[in-house]
Amino acid sequence: MTSQINTILKQAITTFTCKPDLFYSNLGLLMSLLDKLTAEDVNFHPQFRTERLWTQPGKAPVTCIDIYEDHNVTMGISIIKPGGQLPLHNHPEMHGLIKVIAGKVKITSYSLNTEKTLEVDRRSFRGDFAPPAHYTHKRILTAELCSSEIVDVNSKTCLLEPNNKNLHEIHSVDGPAAFLDILAPPYGSLIPGNGPRLCSYYSVLSQVSPKIFKLQEIKSPSWYWTDAFPYTGPQLVL
Ligand SMILES: [Fe+2]
Repeated sequence: MTSQINTILKQAITTFTCKPDLFYSNLGLLMSLLDKLTAEDVNFHPQFRTERLWTQPGKAPVTCIDIYEDHNVTMGISIIKPGGQLPLHNHPEMHGLIKVIAGKVKITSYSLNTEKTLEVDRRSFRGDFAPPAHYTHKRILTAELCSSEIVDVNSKTCLLEPNNKNLHEIHSVDGPAAFLDILAPPYGSLIPGNGPRLCSYYSVLSQVSPKIFKLQEIKSPSWYWTDAFPYTGPQLVL
């Protein structure tokens, strides 16, 4: 019998390679499969639930388990130490799906190019003219805070899109937490005419109006680094 994680992987590849008119129906199917995913389905190692592992000297605050990568999709698991976090980061022109499989996280998400952020950007250029092209390459973004939610193993899959919820920071709550995520296209792949798709980190520079913030691109914070653990779940067959 095909494992749940294998079914999810196949559906992820289908979703992110299908014709545009089939994308949303495939995405809905993928999310409903992910909704049912549990730690047992990926043979999640019990050591990650222990305090002992995370207090070892030199232990990275986040462990990554790579499950699958091709030109269209990546799938992996991120595990965050108790009281740890993934810093605020973006997913350039990507879709992302997050399903918590252990513990609880708080996900704070910002959207780009919303009605309100576009209005703020228009006003800051004092007129009806479109911002100069180089503006979009500046390391300061205008973003709308759109949600801050607690998500656990009973929650539905979270979705981020090229604009909607495209930036987020993720904190573990009440102990370590783990989530499976699917990203498409992968980081490192080329954005046509715009170079490689890089993960950038941000800090909140200022609040412009209710829910609207200026975010400043920063270097990866010194307190954030990752280590890797092998995937030990069911074998994946395409
Ligand atoms: Fe992310």
